[in-house]
Amino acid sequence: MKHLLGIENLNRDQIMHILETAVSFEEINQRQIKKVPTLKGLSVINFFAEPSTRTRMSFEVAEKRLSADSYNIAVSGSAITKGETLSDTALNLQAMAPDCLIIRHAVSGTPHMLAQIMDCSIINAGDGFHEHPTQALLDAYTIQKKKGKLDGLKVALMGDIAHSRVARSNIHLLTKTGSHVTVAGPATMIPKDIKKLGVEVTYDPKEAVKDADIVMMLRIQEERESGLMYPDRREYAKFFCLDEKLLSYAKPDATVMHPGPANRGVEIDDNIMDGDRSVILEQVANGVAVRMAVLYLLLGGSNS
Ligand code: CP
Repeated sequence: MKHLLGIENLNRDQIMHILETAVSFEEINQRQIKKVPTLKGLSVINFFAEPSTRTRMSFEVAEKRLSADSYNIAVSGSAITKGETLSDTALNLQAMAPDCLIIRHAVSGTPHMLAQIMDCSIINAGDGFHEHPTQALLDAYTIQKKKGKLDGLKVALMGDIAHSRVARSNIHLLTKTGSHVTVAGPATMIPKDIKKLGVEVTYDPKEAVKDADIVMMLRIQEERESGLMYPDRREYAKFFCLDEKLLSYAKPDATVMHPGPANRGVEIDDNIMDGDRSVILEQVANGVAVRMAVLYLLLGGSNS
């Protein structure tokens, strides 16, 4: 594998190999000195053309813990603001001979376009509402740690499915690894052809959550919505906010997940977000190990 552009084109063995590789990197993150020379001498550029806290920081942490040289470029400080195209920007970055470019962009397919014109490895850190592969990998890693398996689980994925790259990558990953995925949300937020991806669809949150092993909540992606998808946030929360009552339909040991950023009181209640069934901050911690594994596997460092 040279690039990680999405989960759609990975097979089950490739997914499981990444998750198994992440185990050894999680151990490094628990040491007092959290740094190994694995990617010494290799350079990674982080190019985030959309806001990010978790993905951008955890990639940078992962790069530094692997001893790669890490560089950040933001659109606001780049020559794109002076009219340079993204392709020309990419070719100029390529001329500096990086080993890897990590890209987040509002336009679906941007990482795939860069993979055509650049020589280095490309990692998709989220493209439009297409895919967010490392989020799905860290979610799967977290589920596996919590439940000991991925196959045979009932996963409820709830919220703005239509505009969520996290939903798409998770659906690809979880269906390939044997989970049963049910998506739920207002009808305006469920794509018409989503069933083709092998998921159940319901507009009833109780039905989605009933007997679920995993309840994964998603943010309303207002920045990507072209029109009103629901009357107002309060109305949305009345039906779809995960509170104690709604969570009581799930299995007693159900695990609550959210990729972040979360809107407290809209899709998830404070008590649930901060409660003992929530693994939201564990997802963030696992993201570092999973991104270390992805960088290691793509850039082929020695595992010392
Ligand atoms: N989950 C996620 O992608 O969060 P950020 O937008 O903060 O990177």
